[in-house]
Amino acid sequence: MTFLTVYTEDDVPQTVLETEDASEIAAALKEIDVRLRHWGVVEDLVAGADQERILDAYRAEVERVVAEEGYTFVDVSQLHPEDDPQWPEKAAAARGKFLSEHTHDDDEVRFFVGGSGIFYLRAAGRVHAVLCEAGDLLNVPKNTTHWFDMGTAPDFTAIRFFHDDDGWVGNFTGDPIAARIPDYDAIAARRAAVRG
Ligand SMILES: [Fe+2]
Repeated sequence: MTFLTVYTEDDVPQTVLETEDASEIAAALKEIDVRLRHWGVVEDLVAGADQERILDAYRAEVERVVAEEGYTFVDVSQLHPEDDPQWPEKAAAARGKFLSEHTHDDDEVRFFVGGSGIFYLRAAGRVHAVLCEAGDLLNVPKNTTHWFDMGTAPDFTAIRFFHDDDGWVGNFTGDPIAARIPDYDAIAARRAAVRG
């Protein structure tokens, strides 16, 4: 289930909205032209399934969106905790890649098959932190300033949709805002506390 937190951009960011309500989330994201849709989750997909099996499980939805929105390339990105001494280093490197504010020349479109991650969307003087989970299809329009946090123990499987290969380059803004907004671990802990 999606969890949205909206912050001010201030030096000490204030929380102006915190919600799990689907219609409230949709309304808040619509204001900044970000689209969040939901697909039924395929429950019997085993953890660690490979790309072919995952795309096969969502073939009808994927093909429909590709046809409607003209994507030319679709793949699966996934990261799960491993019992390997190199894992913390690998996880930190993956996390660090898009943890600073950036834009892309293409939309960033992700469907969460499992696990979770947070997209931080900066627009209209606010930062919208969208914690996505299984069933969430998020479309971040091109040129939207954003960053992504998978947390210190990344665990997610996502289908990615691209219009072209070059659009995927990150144009980093150099703005240090990501450092002062609560990170994935903090927001995940906050949600657990809110739920009791
Ligand atoms: Fe990005």
